[in-house]
Amino acid sequence: MDKKIIVAIDGFSSSGKSTMAKALARHTGYIYVDSGAMYRAVTLYGMRKGVVSKENGVDAEALCALLPEIDITFVKDAAGNQRTIMNGEDVEHEIRDLEVSELVSPVAEIHGVRQYLVEMQQGYGKERGIVMDGRDIGTTVFPDAEMKVFVEASAEIRAHRRLKEMLEEGNHATYEEVLHNIMERDRIDSTRKESPLRKAEDAITFYNNEVPIEEQMMVLIKIFNERVKG
Ligand code: CDP
Repeated sequence: MDKKIIVAIDGFSSSGKSTMAKALARHTGYIYVDSGAMYRAVTLYGMRKGVVSKENGVDAEALCALLPEIDITFVKDAAGNQRTIMNGEDVEHEIRDLEVSELVSPVAEIHGVRQYLVEMQQGYGKERGIVMDGRDIGTTVFPDAEMKVFVEASAEIRAHRRLKEMLEEGNHATYEEVLHNIMERDRIDSTRKESPLRKAEDAITFYNNEVPIEEQMMVLIKIFNERVKG
């Protein structure tokens, strides 16, 4: 019988990794976890409590003290799309807006936040049979994942993709704002001290410059089938 594995998909912001992760989870029947949504939910909670803001930055100590109050779960809506639930409230729309995007990388640099969320993420993967996407899944969360993918695409392609998604969801922004945000998050995410964004040595690199998802899926499924056979 095929064994259950862990699939770690990491990469830069809006590289298309979540589209790939969701499609692979659907194909395999595996659980899908969007680790970025968890950092976004913590950011939103901190904003609402006044400890994370554009004006004053992040009060790391105050935010860490609030972490035990934040419950994050995922549910599927009628169309089969995953939605992020924070303390019982559907925050899927709100966590994607530009204000959260502008504050999330500084929040994700905080040791206490990472420790709290990494532990939660490792809990989801206890039984394996999971696809998780993020920045440090193949390096820190599941260094023993059987399948690791690292997704790259140019900043311009990523900004166009993110802008389209945001406008479709009714979140407003300009191309310049989105491009600036993506480049700034790339910088913070890849230079931070703890678990910086980097390709795991045993990850396969995927250059996602406008390759149709069907083609990507063919490659991913082939690799997946090899890995479950061990
Ligand atoms: O959707 P997008 O790729 O733009 O970002 P995301 O996956 O929603 O992640 C938002 C932010 O959370 C990233 O820019 C990182 O700062 C942080 N993050 C992280 O530090 N580690 C992860 N495993 C996932 C996200």
